Amino acid sequence: PADPASATVDDADPDRHSDTDGRLGLRFPPDFGWGAATSAYQVEGAAKDDGRGESVWDTFSRTPGRTHGGDTGDVAADHYHRYPTDLDLMRDIGLRSYRFSIAWPRVQPDGSGAPNQRGLDFYRRLVDGLHDRGITPMATLFHWDLPQALQDTGGWENRDTAYRFADYARAVFDALGAQVPVWLTVNEPKTVVQNGYIIGHHAPGRQDPDAAYLVAHHLHLAHGLAVAQLRDTGSTSRIGPALNLHPCYPADDSPASVAAARLYDGYENRLYLDPVFTGSYPADVLADLGPDSRLARGIHDGDLETISAPVDLLAVQYYTPIYVTATGGTERRWPTSVATWQQIFPEGMYDILTRVTRDYGPVPITVTENGLPTPDALAADGTVDDAGRVAFLRDHLAAAHRAIAAGVPLESYHVWSLLDNFEWEQGYDQRWGLIYVDYPTQRRVLKSSAHWYRRVIADNAI
Ligand code: NOJ
Repeated sequence: PADPASATVDDADPDRHSDTDGRLGLRFPPDFGWGAATSAYQVEGAAKDDGRGESVWDTFSRTPGRTHGGDTGDVAADHYHRYPTDLDLMRDIGLRSYRFSIAWPRVQPDGSGAPNQRGLDFYRRLVDGLHDRGITPMATLFHWDLPQALQDTGGWENRDTAYRFADYARAVFDALGAQVPVWLTVNEPKTVVQNGYIIGHHAPGRQDPDAAYLVAHHLHLAHGLAVAQLRDTGSTSRIGPALNLHPCYPADDSPASVAAARLYDGYENRLYLDPVFTGSYPADVLADLGPDSRLARGIHDGDLETISAPVDLLAVQYYTPIYVTATGGTERRWPTSVATWQQIFPEGMYDILTRVTRDYGPVPITVTENGLPTPDALAADGTVDDAGRVAFLRDHLAAAHRAIAAGVPLESYHVWSLLDNFEWEQGYDQRWGLIYVDYPTQRRVLKSSAHWYRRVIADNAI
C-alpha cells in the first residue's frame, strides 16, 4: 500500500510530482466512470439572469464579514455563460461523467409554484451538451442554495421545506428526468447541519445544535420524498444520497478513546447513513441528544419509512479522516492541506469505501467528490503546475483501486473540482480545480493535474 504520509503538498521528491512519471500500473474496471464535479452556486455566476431568485448563499455571502474578502457567487466562474467552453474542456480531458447541481432558485425563484422555464432551459442545454460529447450527466438536486424565500419561512427547520423540495424535485424530473441517468438528492446534509447550524460559518449562519439535528431530519425527509417522486414518474434513472463520510479513528487504543471515536462516528457518519439504509437513527446519538431534543420530537410516524425507501446507489465524498481523543476532542495526525480541516490520508478512502460496503451494502457506490486545494499560480510560460494535486489524486485512486479489489462495487469517481470556483466561506482564495480560472479574464488553463487525468482516463489506469 502507498505510504499515506507521502502525498503531502510540499513533497520535495520531484519524481512523485511529474505529470507523466510515477505511474502505478493499476488498471480500473472496464467502463469505469471517470468524472469531475461542480455545484451551481460555486461556478455559475449569472446571479440575476433568466429570472433566478435569491438563495441563502446570496444573502450570506453579501453579509459583511461572512466570506473571505467579501467574495460572492455573483460571477464565480461565469459557467452559466461559458458552459460551451467548459463542455469542450471536459471532452478534451476525456471525462465520462460530469456531476453538477441544479439551482433551486433558478427553477423556483421563490421556492414554490410553477417552474421558471428559462431556468430549466439552462440545464437542458447543459445536459444536451454533455450527451453531444459522450459525457454522462449526474445531477444533484440540492447543493446548499436554498431559495431565500423558504429560509424566510423557517428554512430546513420548517418541516414544510421538505415538501417544497419534493415539488421542486418533481418539476426537475418532469423536465429532465429522461436525460439524466443518475440523480443525487441532497449534497452533504452533514455540512448543512454542522457548518450552517452549529458552527455557523456557512449559510444560514446559525449556532443552534438543537435546531441543527432537526434540520438533519428534514434533509433526510426531503431526500426520501424526492426518491418517491422519481419513482412516481416511472423513470428508470437511478437516485441516491451524496454523503461526506469521515473515517473516525481513536487517537490511541484506550477504551475511552475507542468509545469516544464510536460516538463521534455516530455524529459524523451513522446519523446520515442509518436513516437511509436501515430506517432508524443511531441509538447512541439519539441517547446522547436526549429524549427532548428537537430531533427526537420531530420524527413523525412514517418518516423513517419514507427516508429509507430503497436507493439505487450511494455517493461518497471523502476528504479527510478524524482522530478522536478520550475526551471526545480531535487530534491531527497527518499533514494538512491549505484547507486546515483536511488531513491528507489516502488510506481513509479505502477504509470508508470498504466500511460502507460491509455495513450498508450491497449497493453500487460512486465517489462524487475527492480533491485537494493547492496554492496554484499561472506561470510565465502559461502553465499551472499542481504536482501536489496529482500526487493526492493518484494516491487516493490507488486506495480506491484496492477497495475495488476487496469487493467494493465502485462504479465511478469524480474529482472535486472540474474548475477553480467559489469555495464557500473561503471565497476564491482556495483553488480546487483541475482547470485554473483566471478570474479577471475568466480564461481557463488546464493544470498539470488535468493533463495527468486525461492520460489516466485514456489508459483506464493510474
Ligand atoms: C464538499 C462540497 O460539496 C463542495 O461544495 C466543496 O467545495 C468541497 N467539499 C470542498 O470543500
